Amino acid sequence: MSQVSFVVNGKTRTLDLDTRTTLLDALREHLHLTGSKKGCDHGQCGACTVIVNGRRINACLTLALMHEGDSITTIEGLGTLDRLHPMQQAFIKHDGYQCGYCTSGQICSAVAALDEIGAGIPSHVSADLSAPPELIAAELRERMSGNICRCGAYSNIVDAITEVAERKA
Ligand code: FES
Ligand code: FES
Repeated sequence: MSQVSFVVNGKTRTLDLDTRTTLLDALREHLHLTGSKKGCDHGQCGACTVIVNGRRINACLTLALMHEGDSITTIEGLGTLDRLHPMQQAFIKHDGYQCGYCTSGQICSAVAALDEIGAGIPSHVSADLSAPPELIAAELRERMSGNICRCGAYSNIVDAITEVAERKA
């Protein structure tokens, strides 16, 4: 067992963990933040996406002990029932989900993806690497390609992200 401390959704949390515990299991099993989902546990579906120090990561692919001192945001920290995050509102408005299993990962990923675009970070489909990335569907689809939706809500998800992106622009 080893001890780790990190800030989760604004609160410092200290845990004694088996050194093999993934960040996803620490969040779900030890802190009972079950919004982040375990889909594949192999970095292939994106259901476990959380934001660590401003960047999205697959929480199933990283050990909790590697995050000493980090700031972690899960879906529970993005918004509350009374004050939804704009991305959560947009997913509801555009019907960007069906079963909802992938949704927390999609929303965390989308929030961080827009921050990446805002920071000028290019993607695989950015045509001009010397210009700011364009807010077009192809960019959003590429950036969200690590988040699988078995219900196939992709076009509505892109509509939701586009609305938030346009409001930010
Ligand atoms: S559960 Fe982490 S990527 Fe699928
Ligand atoms: S809403 Fe069901 S997997 Fe995406």
